[in-house]
Amino acid sequence: MLKKILIIGACGQIGTELTQKLRNLYGNDAVIASDIREGNKKLMKSGPFELVNAMDYDTILQVVEQYNIQEVYLMAAMLSATGEKFPEKAWDLNMTSLFNVLNLAKEGKIKKLFWPSSIAVFGPTTPKENTPQETIMEPTTVYGISKQTGERWCEYYYKKYDVDVRSIRYPGIISWKTKPGGGTTDYAVEIFHSALLIGKYTSFLSEETKLPMMYMDDAIAATIAIMNAKPATIKIRSSYNLAAMSFTPKEIAETIKKIVPEFKITYNPDFRQQIANSWPSSINDSKARKHWGWKPKYNLTSMTETMLKNLHAKYKIL
Ligand SMILES: NC(=O)c1ccc[n+]([C@@H]2O[C@H](COP(=O)([O-])OP(=O)(O)OC[C@H]3O[C@@H](n4cnc5c(N)ncnc54)[C@H](O)[C@@H]3O)[C@@H](O)[C@H]2O)c1
Repeated sequence: MLKKILIIGACGQIGTELTQKLRNLYGNDAVIASDIREGNKKLMKSGPFELVNAMDYDTILQVVEQYNIQEVYLMAAMLSATGEKFPEKAWDLNMTSLFNVLNLAKEGKIKKLFWPSSIAVFGPTTPKENTPQETIMEPTTVYGISKQTGERWCEYYYKKYDVDVRSIRYPGIISWKTKPGGGTTDYAVEIFHSALLIGKYTSFLSEETKLPMMYMDDAIAATIAIMNAKPATIKIRSSYNLAAMSFTPKEIAETIKKIVPEFKITYNPDFRQQIANSWPSSINDSKARKHWGWKPKYNLTSMTETMLKNLHAKYKIL
């Protein structure tokens, strides 16, 4: 029997591309997109869409039963920067939505669940370079606290109720198709748009702020790989460290300049600097590589070339 998949939060930065990729793999009608708002035209046209509030258990259950869903990807969340503006709302959304889908699996309504964690689970007391899988975790943002707590609950539901939940600690995700949704690494996407449109960019992080990042195609590939891996290979049921590249605003600007020589960057750090300061600079993802064969394809140079090429075509300039 063909598997049926539900994506909650399908219209966001990652959900939009994840939905398209899963539809290419399993067929348009096998992948139900859902969100509290409609997504871009291409997404809306390509297959079934349902308005679903991730906070509302009954609506999720209704959609799961209506379409005979076996797998859920929960992509709805409030991200780090927005979460600092609305801490209670962020906690509410991030935790309630997770409990809703964990409980669906516990009650046997679905078979498998993907829930993304983040490098935000780490904090200022975590070793900054080559951050290990298991280490000190004292997150200082409400987003990070919700993700760390979420990880503990995922592992608990796996151990206690045999819930097949799989998770990755995404670094900052860089993509050109859909704009990012209020995270601390958003500068690394905005910079490409500005470079092509106006030839300059003011970074909200300082020039030496090094953070772990990943190109969208790698993030999607990892997500599908962990979901398709044999259950026994998933030895970590909280969340896996995942890495591809790390760079500073200065380094990405220099890489962009090789293709757009007139590009100029200036720096004007805001409240997001403090969030970035509390996060690791680089991540050790050896367990993901060993357990289920993770390997990234994109580095800073190839990601930059791909971003500029695609955005250039999108904007039809230069
Ligand atoms: N993008 C990144 O760099 C990054 C990094 C680390 C972790 N993550 C995690 O990956 C997941 C997806 O992130 P993203 O960047 O695509 O986020 P996003 O903000 O771009 O998208 C989130 C989507 O969820 C939807 N949503 C919000 N509240 C909802 C609700 N109550 N019910 C249903 N849908 C709702 C929004 O409309 C939006 O379409 C999140 O869990 C996020 O924490 C993202």
